[in-house]
Amino acid sequence: QIKEKNLFYEINRKVGLYFYHNLTKIPNPALEYLTNRGITPKTLASFGLGYANNSWDDLVLYLQKEGYQLEDIQKCGLIRANKQNGYYDYFRNRIMFPIFNIRGEVVGFGGRVLDDALPKYLNSPETKIFNKSNTLYGLNFARKNISNGQIILVEGYMDVIALHQAGFKNAVASLGTSLTKYHGQLLKKYCDEIILCFDGDTAGIKATMRSVDILTEEKCQFRIMMLPQGKDPDDFIKLHGSDKFREQINKAMSLTDYKILLAKNEHANNTIYDNMKLAKRLSEIIRDIKSPIEQEAYIEKASAETGISKEAIKKEIYGQNPKLS
Ligand code: GTP
Ligand code: MN
Ligand code: MN
Ligand code: MN
Ligand code: MN
Repeated sequence: QIKEKNLFYEINRKVGLYFYHNLTKIPNPALEYLTNRGITPKTLASFGLGYANNSWDDLVLYLQKEGYQLEDIQKCGLIRANKQNGYYDYFRNRIMFPIFNIRGEVVGFGGRVLDDALPKYLNSPETKIFNKSNTLYGLNFARKNISNGQIILVEGYMDVIALHQAGFKNAVASLGTSLTKYHGQLLKKYCDEIILCFDGDTAGIKATMRSVDILTEEKCQFRIMMLPQGKDPDDFIKLHGSDKFREQINKAMSLTDYKILLAKNEHANNTIYDNMKLAKRLSEIIRDIKSPIEQEAYIEKASAETGISKEAIKKEIYGQNPKLS
């Protein structure tokens, strides 16, 4: 069992080095792609990025030549069996991101296409050494670079890499799956506060709302950053630079403030109808606040912003008839 796991670590590491060699030592289209996206040679090396050749059997042949058994390679999720009892490479013509466990061993890969073909990303399947629900991309690096007790949680591989390159070496991502309670427990172990920084789109907002439920459940401290519409952390750094990103971290919001901001964006027209809708939504949000003092403060704000009286908002929150509330 331990022997088998060690063999799988060895195969994955070997393959990671092979992909890195393909990317950096042999002419290929991925190096130009990554360079155009602003990734430096140093970053390529520290994250061990690579390229899976545009071939059906490149890796099969390489690992066989190196003396590995096809069954073992298949169990690592790197090759698959075809109908003719042969094997073919799982990752072809993709930029490869080795995924490390907390100890820095390679446990799997994410692979990105070079154009806008689908699926954009392909991940290694789960194996004896790779469990997506308790792995966070970049945590092996970030754990040594926790700053202000914070970890920045982002959506994508490229976000982690861009942030580390820009000096935010405490960024991690889940692997294209939603955050699990195991991720929450892991984060809590390594930091005091999680800064959620998901993409500024509908999917990112949904992912944020799902994640905060889990983080709350796991009693993790967190704050939320809101990125401009359509932008992710990688885009933001490219557009505005690290100083602006740091400012955004410092301005990260509590869950209540985040919900209020979303509600205001949704009901931004100053019509009676919109103000009404907003006041109702704010009442719901305020109802969830535990501290009466905080509630009072937000009621004040909600009233000022919607032009609805505090009395009406209070009635909306607490109900006129106790039996109905
Ligand atoms: P770039 O387009 O290269 O900048 O990547 P991105 O990280 O911005 O991608 P996106 O915002 O679309 O997705 C965020 C993360 O979700 C990715 O880094 C992946 O981990 C995951 N993801 C995106 N698309 C897919 C997919 O087609 N399949 C799988 N399994 N995961 C995906
Ligand atoms: Mn996205
Ligand atoms: Mn998107
Ligand atoms: Mn991106
Ligand atoms: Mn993105």
